[in-house]
Amino acid sequence: MRDLFAKCGKEGGYFSRFRMMRDRYFALPIIEGMPGTHMTFKGRKVIQWAINNYLGLVDRPELIEVAREAAAKWGVGAPMGSRFMTGNTERHTELERRLAKFSDKESAILFNYGYLGVIGTVTSMIGKDDVIVIDKLAHASMMDAAFSTRQFIPFRHNDLESLERALKRASRLHEGGVLVVVEGVYGMTGDLADLPGIIELKNKYGARLFVDDAHGFGTMGKGGGGTGFHYGVQDSIDIYFGTFAKAFAAIGGFSSARDDVVEYIRFNARTQIFAKSLPMVVVEVLLKAMDIVESEPELVEKLWENTRKLQDGLRELGFDLGNTASPVTPVYIPTSDIETGIRFIHKMRDEKGIFISGVMYPVIPKGVLLARMIPTAAHTDEDIEETLKAFREVRDEMGLL
Ligand SMILES: Cc1ncc(COP(=O)(O)O)c(C=O)c1O
Repeated sequence: MRDLFAKCGKEGGYFSRFRMMRDRYFALPIIEGMPGTHMTFKGRKVIQWAINNYLGLVDRPELIEVAREAAAKWGVGAPMGSRFMTGNTERHTELERRLAKFSDKESAILFNYGYLGVIGTVTSMIGKDDVIVIDKLAHASMMDAAFSTRQFIPFRHNDLESLERALKRASRLHEGGVLVVVEGVYGMTGDLADLPGIIELKNKYGARLFVDDAHGFGTMGKGGGGTGFHYGVQDSIDIYFGTFAKAFAAIGGFSSARDDVVEYIRFNARTQIFAKSLPMVVVEVLLKAMDIVESEPELVEKLWENTRKLQDGLRELGFDLGNTASPVTPVYIPTSDIETGIRFIHKMRDEKGIFISGVMYPVIPKGVLLARMIPTAAHTDEDIEETLKAFREVRDEMGLL
């Protein structure tokens, strides 16, 4: 028998390159200070473009105050135990009612993490004769759900012909039902699922549709209702999913759907049944965050105003932003040499004080490096101007474009 640990000192495994380099720059960087538009990286003040604080809620004093009050009243961990056993409260139920209403569905169920919510929801719906039809670019949580059921057929990203072939294969090979699994806004590339086309096909074949709208919940459509509202098709999404880790600047997630479907998930989603309940501090903060989002539609408007300014400015400088149609702003570094791309990110962070993420294989295909930026409602015109100036200078200093 080989030693299980033998692989740990060698190349191999996910993110091998960064592990071998003991990288703490692209993987596991330490960014200090209150999260927001200005933070500290390696002792230097930077403009922060890498956190999903879309509506600028993360440092809102009212939310911090609610958390303080909730902790003083109930402690940090309350309620203890899983919802199923001892961890249920009227406030958890109230939050579910608010989320169901916000997403225009009959019922909702809370999860402790978006990641576990996706896995719990999708796996609970897939019985032994059922099958998942999944977009190849879907987030790791959906992929992991699919892998764990071992009953899935992938289709090419947002390609309706490929989806139709997958649906035909699914109905030929499986006797049960089909769950089509997509993102609303693709989190790395910012493009939207072609929901109208996907809905037409899922109706044609009698499938059901799950939309993970992690990046669309709170940012897309009127009042931030989500990508379904953006297209006017929210009614046709069978299971809607959102996380609180992005626009709502907290932690956790939810699925919403028809009442009987949510009740089925509630009694079958192992990632929630066998896990401790979401803490009261988080539940109270989320209820308050919902008040803010519902009463301040200008936050979503400001997010979009900043998104347009940043994206128009980058395009004017000659950068390729792919097919983004959301605030997610992928800047494809114009080089086929990954080392040049890495140098670009270093110069932006260390010389110009602009913190952007570098995204590369295995998160996206080999040989491409993209700088991913998240504009928020809290960024100012000066932040945007200083950032565009830095992009122009680094572009010229490196002789790109
Ligand atoms: C599309 C998508 N789904 C699910 C998740 C997981 O959500 P959470 O961070 O709340 O666990 C993410 C987070 O990156 C995501 O982008």
